[in-house]
Amino acid sequence: RAEVGINGSSSPAAVDRSNESIKHHVRLGLSKWKHNQTLSLKIRKHILKFLDAEKDISVLKGTLKPGDIIHYVFDRDSTMNVSQNLYALLPRTSPLKGKHFRTCAIVGNSGILLNSACGEEIDSHNFVIRCNLAPVQEYTQDVGTKTDLVTMNPSVIQRAFEDLVNDTWKEKLLQRLHSLNGSILWIPAFMAKGGKERVEWVNELILKHHINVRTAYPSLRLLHAVRGYWLTNKVYIKRPTTGLLMYTLATRFCNRIHLYGFWPFPRDQDQNPVKYHYYDSLKYGYTSQASPHTMPLEFKALKALHQQGALKLTVGECE
Ligand code: CTP
Repeated sequence: RAEVGINGSSSPAAVDRSNESIKHHVRLGLSKWKHNQTLSLKIRKHILKFLDAEKDISVLKGTLKPGDIIHYVFDRDSTMNVSQNLYALLPRTSPLKGKHFRTCAIVGNSGILLNSACGEEIDSHNFVIRCNLAPVQEYTQDVGTKTDLVTMNPSVIQRAFEDLVNDTWKEKLLQRLHSLNGSILWIPAFMAKGGKERVEWVNELILKHHINVRTAYPSLRLLHAVRGYWLTNKVYIKRPTTGLLMYTLATRFCNRIHLYGFWPFPRDQDQNPVKYHYYDSLKYGYTSQASPHTMPLEFKALKALHQQGALKLTVGECE
């Protein structure tokens, strides 16, 4: 029987050991890893009580019409109108309808990926999920290129594309979108009011330039449902990160789930500095009280699941 619960703290021994260096802990887990199919199925079943990834991955055309008013999930007093463009880009059927994959990779954005040589391994998975339009071209050796689903928080348009202030930035975004080549672009459009214009800009570009992506806009209930699942398992997250959301959704359609680029710590197992993102100079912000995320807590939960064989975390080099 596994001694560590989903929240990584079910036995005093486990708590004691969590004080040891993360280095020892994760390495130990890695060397012994074996997939636990029974547990994976149990987790899938449990998560299905809270949400259904097939449905919650996107709002569908049939459920909304242009002009409908939506209250933002995190800013309940603010509303948006469903625009013609947004409506045009809503899928008719779920992009995950009836989908099942033997193995999936979820690629987080930690700098731990640099010099990992994990690119080939990541690309060998049947379904690859990436976060926040993270660049791949300059980093293929470490992160691979295969992308079946990529998320895009509206804030990425500001952070990585300078709010499209001029044609150069527009062109950069266009190139990134073109490179997605038929994959699913997952845009949380109904979460916070701040993203309103950015979502509209992206929608407009996609339509105007006939970009080959399958857009998806997560349901209004997804965030709370995911949070509810983890809270029930005593993982007291404030707001789930994109990475945790993707893991929770992936349990529905992936048999084996491998996580790469999840490392919310400024030092690696050998105490070398680790960049927050592998591709930019953003600093660690999640430790501040203002941050909506509780990443180290999420990591602890994921590590416990790794140790029980429900998922595989890679936090070092790939062979
Ligand atoms: N991540 C991580 N360690 C880091 C950076 C990111 O584990 N040092 C994981 C998190 O699960 C995160 C995901 O990789 O959600 C994608 O990273 P990022 O694009 O940075 O997401 P954030 O903008 O930090 O947060 P979110 O999109 O979840 O609001």
